[in-house]
Amino acid sequence: MRAEDPRPVRLSEYRPSDFLIDEVHLDFRLDPNATQVTARLRMRPNPAGDAGAALKLDGDELKLVSVAIDGAKLDAEALDVSPESLVIANPPRGAFELEIVTEIDPEANTRLMGLYRSNRSYCTQCEAEGFRRITYFLDRPDVLAVYTTRIEGPADECPLLLSNGEMIENGPAGEGRHYAVWRDPWPKPSYLFALVAGDLGVVEDRFVTMSGRDVALKVFVEHGQEHRALHAMESIKASMKWDEEAFGREYDLGVFMVVAVSHFNMGAMENKGLNVFNDKYVLASPETATDGDYANIEAIIAHEYFHNWTGDRITCRDWFQLCLKEGLTVFRDQEFTSDRRSRPVKRIQDVRNLRALQFAEDAGPLAHPVRPQIYHEINNFYTPTVYEKGAEVIRMLKTWIGEDAFRAGMDLYFDRHDGQACTIEQFVACFAETSGRDLTQWMRWYDQAGTPEVTVRTAYDADAKTFAVETQQITRPTPGQPEKRPVVIPMTLGLVGPDGADMPLIVGGAPAEPVFTLAEETTRIVFENVAERPVPSLFRNFSAPVKLDSDVSDEDLLFLAGHDSDPFNRWQAVQTVALRHLVAAAAAVREGRETPVDPRLAEAVGRAFDPEERDCAFAAQVASLPSEGDIAREIAQDVDPDAIHRARDDLKRALRARLADALSAAYARLAYDGPYSPDAASAGHRSLRIAALDLLAAGGDAEGLALAMTLYKSAENMTDRVMSMQVLSLHAGAEREEALADFAGRYGHDPLLMDKWFLIQASAPLPDAVDRVEGLMASPAFDMRNPNRVRSLIGAFGSGNPTQFNRPDGRGYALVAGVAAELNSTNPQVAARLLGAFRTWRALEPNRRGRAETALRGLAGMPNLSPDVRDIVRRALS
Ligand code: PHE
Ligand code: ZN
Repeated sequence: MRAEDPRPVRLSEYRPSDFLIDEVHLDFRLDPNATQVTARLRMRPNPAGDAGAALKLDGDELKLVSVAIDGAKLDAEALDVSPESLVIANPPRGAFELEIVTEIDPEANTRLMGLYRSNRSYCTQCEAEGFRRITYFLDRPDVLAVYTTRIEGPADECPLLLSNGEMIENGPAGEGRHYAVWRDPWPKPSYLFALVAGDLGVVEDRFVTMSGRDVALKVFVEHGQEHRALHAMESIKASMKWDEEAFGREYDLGVFMVVAVSHFNMGAMENKGLNVFNDKYVLASPETATDGDYANIEAIIAHEYFHNWTGDRITCRDWFQLCLKEGLTVFRDQEFTSDRRSRPVKRIQDVRNLRALQFAEDAGPLAHPVRPQIYHEINNFYTPTVYEKGAEVIRMLKTWIGEDAFRAGMDLYFDRHDGQACTIEQFVACFAETSGRDLTQWMRWYDQAGTPEVTVRTAYDADAKTFAVETQQITRPTPGQPEKRPVVIPMTLGLVGPDGADMPLIVGGAPAEPVFTLAEETTRIVFENVAERPVPSLFRNFSAPVKLDSDVSDEDLLFLAGHDSDPFNRWQAVQTVALRHLVAAAAAVREGRETPVDPRLAEAVGRAFDPEERDCAFAAQVASLPSEGDIAREIAQDVDPDAIHRARDDLKRALRARLADALSAAYARLAYDGPYSPDAASAGHRSLRIAALDLLAAGGDAEGLALAMTLYKSAENMTDRVMSMQVLSLHAGAEREEALADFAGRYGHDPLLMDKWFLIQASAPLPDAVDRVEGLMASPAFDMRNPNRVRSLIGAFGSGNPTQFNRPDGRGYALVAGVAAELNSTNPQVAARLLGAFRTWRALEPNRRGRAETALRGLAGMPNLSPDVRDIVRRALS
């Protein structure tokens, strides 16, 4: 039987809680299958709530043992209890203490929400609604309480007993058991609660805050992995320092802890004082981690640490406001990385990522606003739109109101709202105040889904010496939002003269700032005193998350590629020219025609390998062509992934043919030795060398493959080893098999390294991919219970292998849908995430579209569909 759709949650129906909880005392008696949790809650009616309302507490798969109010046990008749809720019809009208005892089974918890076991440890995950799997509670972010947590467990199995805040007491508890009591003085919502118990190794250090307070830093990992926690520790110290310098934010407890666990649904979690991490984002050593791993760890450690102020000290009123903490914290971690590494390169990477994930989401059936107005399952809203577009909106705000008003607004926000659960309106009001601007229209960025498309047409009048820039913006309809209104788009612009220098911007007889506001459907800007025809450099530094269609010619773009003072647009210019070519070439492939490659495009790409090029990381970005996903999005409808792949492959081969000497020379020149260092400059150097190798091996060129094989065998660091294996894996043949077998032989014991091996095979665009993935699912290194394994194999196949996932015979769809069906009951969150692979299915050509739909309809008809999977399938099909 199919369960009825439960009622959705709507922002417009928000009401304050009828009760508040000031203090929470938790007492955990740990046991693998029967952990007892006693919760004593100091409660009172909320003056802002409904006087006389019943007390309704949230639960999820809970087993109630007992309930008492002010020490008096309630009998069954006074209660309305189910695994999903506990209702007390007539609670006291003043303050009271509610004591609830529940029993939970951590071993059986395969969803990894609430209290569960990972390897031999106990750990918790409570965001968004996991706390209700531990005890009945007002499990909503606007109920803030001070927590005291007593944990009791076996001393041998769990020498370590951790929770939020600081430890205030510990000792033996008899029969080989011991206990610890933790107290967190900062009021927090239940989703920030955490507990970890187990036998782990630790790396310790300290940090002295700007006001001179000493903070103990601890990173917990499995025994024997301590040497892989040093980079995470360095990243914590760097993050703490940066938040003091950049935002004036100081850490506020005597201890800050990070725990790495192997079973985790997401990347990491910002629980107050006790961040819990997916071990993939903690563990790194030169022997086991790539440059990308080092960079990710640094960024995610920073992200979770920054949540201490943007998330923990100031939290969200309700889950619709998720971007209040996530968009802002992503913005902050992006800034941190920009300051530590290369700002332009970070910007390029972030924009690539935004387009690949968020633009794709915004263009399909799962599109939703940065602040959704309705949801069925909140777990499905931890999305690129909430995170990455949420961060873009803040970056854009900073561009629009200027650095000083932005910083003042942040200070005001921290000052005014510390200790509160807030809304986007309260956040934006701070910037309206410090900038003096009306931000009413600005709110559309939060409420309107879809990527605005901006068309720019330009005209130079040589007689009048004027240059006119006309813009038009449209946002296409998205689910539930048929009509769109114009948004406030800041366009940072430059006019580049024939000598490559920026020309002065004169508008209305006066010098103009480079940030122009496009707030209407159309805008016209006329620049004066323009002595010669300029080349416009539009949306410098990607000043707004829009899709740009301009009449700037390829020739002018390639001029910008060589001259623009804005590095982002130097990169973008090459990308745009390449993308125009690839779209045309993909269409030509379908008609059996060929499209010649413009030699000037090859030349622009070739410049990345020029011996004069100093910034390798930037050059590597220039040399990396638009992805197949980028091309598909540009085509937008009737998409044929095979034609796209073929067009891109042809371009790579043409580039190889034209640039062979320069590529070989660069590959040789960029060879290096000496000890491994993951710093940005060294990583950039390696990435440029790999970009050369990738082009040299285009079309399975024998010489290129031989070079890749040599690099694979002689690699002295994991980046070279993985990246050379990846290059080899794109081309069927003996080299590919040799490298893959060698890698498994060397690293078969290390699950995180086997994840790389899974991912590379799952994303190889070869016809045997489905068979391979099926074979690998049966291999001993694979484990359906571990989200990292599932994502590396099935997730990578679905989202990173466009030709094979979208096989015309539908086998790719069936594979991913089949795994999602299997995970539907054991881990619905991971199942739902896998289905993200279907977010662009409607853009496909009719045969594939039909097959994708069949796979989705098959899932929709399954019995016992979890709310997570049902929500995605229903929206994908709507
Ligand atoms: N709040 C976490 C972060 O972005 C993400 C997360 C969400 C983790 C839900 C677990 C569960 O930092
Ligand atoms: Zn976050």
